[in-house]
Formats: sequence, structure tokens, C-alpha cells
Amino acid sequence: MSTRHKTQVCIIGSGPAGLLLSQLLHNSGIESIILERQTREHVEGRIRAGVLEAGSVEALTEAGIGERMMREGLLHDGFNLAFDGDHHRIDLKGLTGKQVMVYGQTEVTRDMIALRLSQGAEIAFGAQDVLPVDVTSSKPLVKYRHNGASHEVECAFVAGCDGFHGVSRNTVLESVRQTFERVYPFGWLGILSDTPPVSHELIYANHQRGFALCSMRSMTRSRYYVQCSTEDDIANWSDARFWDELTARIGEDAARNLVRGPSIEKSIAPLRSFVCEPMRHGNLFLAGDAAHIVPPTGAKGLNLAIADVRYLSRALIEHYRSGNAAWLDNYSATCLKRIWKVERFSWYMSMMLHQFPDDSAFGKKMQRAEFDYIASSETASRAIAENYVGLPLD
Ligand code: APR
Ligand code: PHB
Repeated sequence: MSTRHKTQVCIIGSGPAGLLLSQLLHNSGIESIILERQTREHVEGRIRAGVLEAGSVEALTEAGIGERMMREGLLHDGFNLAFDGDHHRIDLKGLTGKQVMVYGQTEVTRDMIALRLSQGAEIAFGAQDVLPVDVTSSKPLVKYRHNGASHEVECAFVAGCDGFHGVSRNTVLESVRQTFERVYPFGWLGILSDTPPVSHELIYANHQRGFALCSMRSMTRSRYYVQCSTEDDIANWSDARFWDELTARIGEDAARNLVRGPSIEKSIAPLRSFVCEPMRHGNLFLAGDAAHIVPPTGAKGLNLAIADVRYLSRALIEHYRSGNAAWLDNYSATCLKRIWKVERFSWYMSMMLHQFPDDSAFGKKMQRAEFDYIASSETASRAIAENYVGLPLD
């Protein structure tokens, strides 16, 4: 026997996509239940990227989740590109009139969970064997196990917000889905350290030893990455080796202010571009990493998830308010149009900034020419700035 629950929207996954969707629906009086495989501690402890587009900041603020972000987040007017020691600043504010907010996804997630729980939201952390069934009927069910007992949620819609390794995309869309993928031949080794950032703005560096990125979480906590081999082992990277490598890649000038310290987190992540089409199957809608992955070079993963959920919440609210299904019908096509543009930008930044193991001398000359062109052209710099601060929602 299963315990039966009833709601309007069953949301699978309590990452930023699932949590924001639940919040936006709640703000419009629509009920949801979230089923999350991991514990709350696990979800709140994951280290992820940390740059929010202007539109994402607006969305979080409008949803009522922006208070701590506005207090503790760092507004940035620009960022730097570096190429074998040469620098070019992308003046985001001057070129677009907009800024980005540096505020960790970990903090966004904590803020969202705290607010949802304070409003009495149902989030089943530790839900096992989550399985959506009958999603093409008007009464989908989502089955799961929790604390050893069987449960099922009866709902009108299922939102698959369960990330790249989730169950929604793979089990349900098998018959109709088409996927597009590129796996890059390197990874990013990232460290977090309680040291002041080397620069007050981010630095993306292409160096002959490989890509490096200087980012931050606050004025006292830094986040740095270096390109590494996909086969590399974290055990090969002592803190000292990491700091030496970062220093070599960002150049003497930039490294002059680098403060070394013990790493408080160190991990290797692969880089991938991935899109699943369509993002709807019957009454199941995919959002966020469940539908697409971008390499982190443009800091777009979290922002894309937020954009999807803005569309999806609008479509569900319209359905419940007026019975108009047009928004739901257009969800996948509308999202995908913007997603592909963001995939393009993330791919472009990745291609420009990394060392490709099999690349010819010609390929390297192309990267250098790209950098020189951007550095000499306001138009080219503006194209980068416009994408970095975030393309408009349609
Ligand atoms: N059942 C229930 N929950 C699941 C399942 C499952 N079978 N599989 C995965 N999940 C949960 C994960 O534990 C995670 O908490 O779904 C959640 C998905 O969250 P994210 O991976 O953070 O994805 P999303 O919400 O789309 O956010 C996108 O997060 O991964 C980063 O780079 C990505 O910044 C981007 C953002
Ligand atoms: C980060 O701070 O973790 C970060 C910033 C910018 C990126 C990727 C990651 O492009």
C-alpha cells in the first residue's frame, strides 16, 4: 500500500530550478510538492558557480528570495580576459548598462530552501526511486519511497527539475527525445579558499599551459579554477601545485596580489554541452540541467535554469488563471530558442579560452586573433558583454 498525496504540480529535484519554480507557483497560489533524492545537508553543501545575470537577480528579487543576495552579493561592472599575459577588460556596465551579481549558487539554494520551508512547503528530502508515470494522461502519478514506505503523488503536472543525472529525462522521454552533445577534452580543477580574491573582478585567462579562472564568493573567499586533463586525479594536486600553476597561467602582473592559503574544497569537473529536445512530454516539463548542460566558461548553468523556470511558472499560472494552454504549448520551443543562443555563447567562450590537446598551430592562431579582435573592437566586446549580462527573455 502506498500513501497517496495530492497536489497541482509535482516537482522532482530541489536544486535552484525546482526550488524557484515551487516559490513562483506558491506566490501565485498554486500548490506543489518537491521530491528530492538527497538530504537537505547535501543539497545545501554543494559547491557550484556563482555569477547571476541581471535578469536572474531581478527574478530572485521579485520572487522574494533576494534579500540576503542584495546585502551580501557583489555587483560587478566588468570582467577581464587575459591571453598569454595580455589583458582586455569587458566593461559590462559601460557596454550594456547592466551588471552581474557574484553570489554563490550554494547561498541561493540555502535562501530558497529556508523561505520555502518557512512558508510550510512540502519538500521530501531523501526520496528514493522517484518515478513519474502516466505523464501523457491528465492524471500523472509520481511514485517514490521515503523512510522505507511507498508513496505516490497524484498531480496535474510534473516538473522534471532533477538535473543532468535525474530520472525525468531518461525514463520518460525515451520515445520522442533527441539529444545533442559535445564533451570537451579537459576538465576544470576548482578550489575554494578563505583568502581575499586576487582581483576585484573575474579574470578568464587563456595561457599556453591551459585555461585559468579567478573568481570569488566574497571579499574574503576566493574561487579559482585551472584547466586539467579529464584523467587527472585530485590526489595529484597539492595546494602548493595548484597555486604555482594558477600563478603561471594568470601572469606575473595579475599574480602579484595573489594570496595563497589552504583549500577548503577541491574538485575536478568535466565540461559538456548538452541539449534535450523537446522539453515537454505530455504533462511532464523539463527545466534546468535536466534538459541542458553548458560548459561553465560563461557562468550560464544557473541562469539558464532560472530562465526556464520563469517561462514554466508563467505558463502554469496562465493555465490555472485563464485555462489558456498556449503558454504551456509554447514552453519547449520558446525556451529552446534562448537555450541554443546561450549554448552558443558558452561553447564560444570555451573554444576561445582553453588549450585543446589536439589543436594545431592554426587553431592557436585563431584563438589569438579572436582575442586581438575583441580587444580592438568595441562591437565585439559589446557582443560578449550582452551575452554575459544575459539575453532578454522573449
Ligand atoms: N529523484 C529526486 N531528485 C533527484 C533525482 C531523482 N531521481 N535525481 C537528481 N535529483 C535532484 C538532485 O539531487 C538535485 O538536488 O535534483 C536536483 C537537481 O538540481 P541541480 O543539479 O542543481 O539542477 P538545476 O536545479 O537544474 O540547477 C541548475 O545547478 O547543477 C547546477 O550547473 C548547474 O548551475 C546549474 C544549476
Ligand atoms: C565561479 O565563481 O564558480 C564561476 C564564475 C564564473 C564562471 C564559472 C564559475 O564562468
